[in-house]
Amino acid sequence: MIFTHDTTRLALLAVLSLSYAGVCMAPWLRARARRRASDAARAALADSPAWLVAYASQTGNAEELATQTARSLQLAGIPVRLCALAELTANDLQQAERALLLVSTYGEGDAPDNAAAFMGRLMTGGLALPQLHYAVLALGDRSYGQFCGFGRALDAWLAAQGASRLFERIEVDRSASAAIEQWFQHLSHLAGTSDAPDWSAPAFGDWRLTHRQLLNPGSAGGAIYHVELAPVAGTLPDWQSGDLVQVAAPLDPAQPREYSIASIPHDGGVHLLVRQQMHPDGSLGLASGWLTAQAAVGEVVQLRLRQHRRFRLEDNARRPLILIGNGSGIAGLRGHLKSRVLAGQRRNWLIFGERNAAHDFLYREEIEQWHASGDLPRLDLAFSRDQAERMYVQDRLRGNADEVRLWLEQGAAIYICGSLAGMAGGVDQALQDMLGRSALDALAAAGRYRRDVY
Ligand SMILES: Cc1cc2nc3c(=O)[nH]c(=O)nc-3n(C[C@H](O)[C@H](O)[C@H](O)COP(=O)(O)OP(=O)(O)OC[C@H]3O[C@@H](n4cnc5c(N)ncnc54)[C@H](O)[C@@H]3O)c2cc1C
Ligand SMILES: Cc1cc2nc3c(=O)[nH]c(=O)nc-3n(C[C@H](O)[C@H](O)[C@H](O)COP(=O)(O)O)c2cc1C
Repeated sequence: MIFTHDTTRLALLAVLSLSYAGVCMAPWLRARARRRASDAARAALADSPAWLVAYASQTGNAEELATQTARSLQLAGIPVRLCALAELTANDLQQAERALLLVSTYGEGDAPDNAAAFMGRLMTGGLALPQLHYAVLALGDRSYGQFCGFGRALDAWLAAQGASRLFERIEVDRSASAAIEQWFQHLSHLAGTSDAPDWSAPAFGDWRLTHRQLLNPGSAGGAIYHVELAPVAGTLPDWQSGDLVQVAAPLDPAQPREYSIASIPHDGGVHLLVRQQMHPDGSLGLASGWLTAQAAVGEVVQLRLRQHRRFRLEDNARRPLILIGNGSGIAGLRGHLKSRVLAGQRRNWLIFGERNAAHDFLYREEIEQWHASGDLPRLDLAFSRDQAERMYVQDRLRGNADEVRLWLEQGAAIYICGSLAGMAGGVDQALQDMLGRSALDALAAAGRYRRDVY
């Protein structure tokens, strides 16, 4: 009896142990099966044609996200070709089976500068793309009339060519992180990497507002402040002239605002030139109000540096430079002039405009000093309201057409910084009239016509 009883107990124990082991092993077995399945999927994916990850970006947001997109696919073992949309040919699109397109919108619903050629070359015609599966991440800003205009146009064009969507277009309003997270969730689903870490929004650092000065007292236009910031941690990160910062204002940290950096690391801090925006109800712009009025000197500002490769000097560092801008646009041009002075490069020509010399000649002392020392041998100013007839930077440019051509023959590069409305369009038209559209496009393609306009 005792024996039987013990046998029963032992058998019971064995069954229990086995089922306990089963319970313990089940997750491991399931994970192993999943790993094997996803290894198989990855092996199959690795043999498939490369996925295209193409971006159209003006200030680098879409390009940064495209780089992260490519990286997350590569981690899943998927072969990827990462490139600018402008580099894609009709043949590339017809060979591809999977394409992820990350594009922003500029102007009034237009393509960014570096995608205008793609639009003109491919999107005006028909192309059979029945083999292509694609997805679009459209970056934009709802305060513009044509929200995500280019992303929508690209999506509609691809669908009209017979390509099919991997998932519905995702639209991102001012870099809102929820939409970007959604994009990366779709990607991990497609790539079978649901165990990969989630995408997280880029981190902002603590910077102390160390100095602030109104630069245009008495101006007929909005107040413009020179603002200096230093990292609270002490160590100054590196950047190049042409780069941008993003500032997260306390009332809207999810939608940071961009500012051109007006200094170089040699200055020991980040300088910004901020025009105070005023809404029709008299309230101040969220970020510009914070930087120019609400944040006290000594207060901490959330900021991050952003490379702006399309506006850096890069290969142009050794060329003569024609720098053209208005208003707060002098910020990006000041950064370049400082780099040039430090490097001893003196073939610089600045064309700057605002309303009245008496109030709006921003950084006057510095600029006149560079002019006197020979660091800035050519200086043309256009103060629109200082004479009976209005005069703008584009008029100065037209008045010096022969010399502009001569500088370009000598290899000069052109940099434009400031307002898109009025200035950048007017300058583009003047250059087109002087040089012809195809010559101007060729300069842009060679990186010798660069714009930081907003
Ligand atoms: C690449 C780049 C570089 C830039 N560089 C500079 C720079 O160097 N210096 C600079 O000063 N700016 C620069 N800007 C512009 C800057 O990023 C901000 O857009 C600007 O400071 C306004 O932001 P804000 O938060 O102060 O205004 P917001 O509060 O965002 O308001 C902006 C505008 O939106 C409208 N608006 C918003 N809310 C309302 C409302 N409630 N009622 C009515 N209208 C409203 C108004 O027209 C207002 O002027 C740059 C922009 C880009 C893209
Ligand atoms: C001058 C200018 C014009 C813009 N025009 C539009 C527009 O018409 N529609 C839109 O949705 N977004 C517009 N935007 C917002 C940009 O698309 C958005 O800031 C985007 O994040 C930029 O991405 P990028 O850095 O890749 O170029 C505009 C931005 C600027 C500075």
